Amino acid sequence: MIVKDKTILIMGIRNKWSIAYGAAQAAYEQGAKLLFLFRGEENRSKIEDLVSEFGDAKAYECDLSEDENIKRAFEEIKKDYGKIDGILHSIAHANTEDLHNDFIETSKEGFAHANDVSAYSLVATCRIAKELDLLSSNASIICLTYYGSTKMLPGYNVMGVAKAALECSVRYLAENLGKEGIRVNAISAGPVKTLSAKGIKDFASIMDVVEERAPLKKNITAKQVGNTAAFLFSDMSDAITGQVIYVDSGYSIMGI
Ligand SMILES: NC(=O)c1ccc[n+]([C@@H]2O[C@H](COP(=O)([O-])OP(=O)(O)OC[C@H]3O[C@@H](n4cnc5c(N)ncnc54)[C@H](O)[C@@H]3O)[C@@H](O)[C@H]2O)c1
Repeated sequence: MIVKDKTILIMGIRNKWSIAYGAAQAAYEQGAKLLFLFRGEENRSKIEDLVSEFGDAKAYECDLSEDENIKRAFEEIKKDYGKIDGILHSIAHANTEDLHNDFIETSKEGFAHANDVSAYSLVATCRIAKELDLLSSNASIICLTYYGSTKMLPGYNVMGVAKAALECSVRYLAENLGKEGIRVNAISAGPVKTLSAKGIKDFASIMDVVEERAPLKKNITAKQVGNTAAFLFSDMSDAITGQVIYVDSGYSIMGI
């Protein structure tokens, strides 16, 4: 039980295929008390049903593209739970056309939108949590990234740019929060069939390539990502911060 007695906020749960759901399963198995953040009040009953298996977990609605919304949700969380020990940021969005056209066609608005929701929201999350004194002194913040931040992958497009910004933000945030003992890391997950992944052109062929070329010759699961997140939430990882940790069956080490 590596996260026993820790209270962890899981942001970005949509359904049982979400990486956030795999993270919730792992953290719950490892003893954490969980609370959730989801998008869209119309999804409340579906989300409450989904998280009912994780004890008396509360779910808060929040669109992270507005700082005001984050502030409101975090104030409510602080009122209900006091300080928390961890946050999973499992959130990304880009306009469909920006994932279907060539990258060169990305509009200014589409570029800003993808970076706003997928990268800046982590910066705002950290700052607002700090301002509201929501985080315990050894808290751990984790976000989700992908290999398309470092290599050109057809169809990943502006999301690759947003993930590069997210990974770089992790390093700056890790320094800014390090003095307070708070850690910030990213997990770079291999491809997992989720609703968001469906938006990426030729996603199925990316999965086939991983199976064929990754050292472990298989794709990963959301639960395997979750197991790494549980480790990063735990005090067993208390000297790790500012890192991008690959959970990808080793695919990213291959030159060819
Ligand atoms: N699926 C993959 O292959 C893969 C691989 C590596 C990294 N990731 C990353 O994992 C994270 C989770 O994605 P997923 O694949 O589980 O898909 P998902 O669709 O299940 O989760 C994405 C979540 O982001 C939320 N979201 C989008 N815009 C939001 C906003 N403005 N405010 C609040 N929430 C918002 C959605 O509601 C959803 O819950 C993302 O950061 C994604 O880029 C996914």
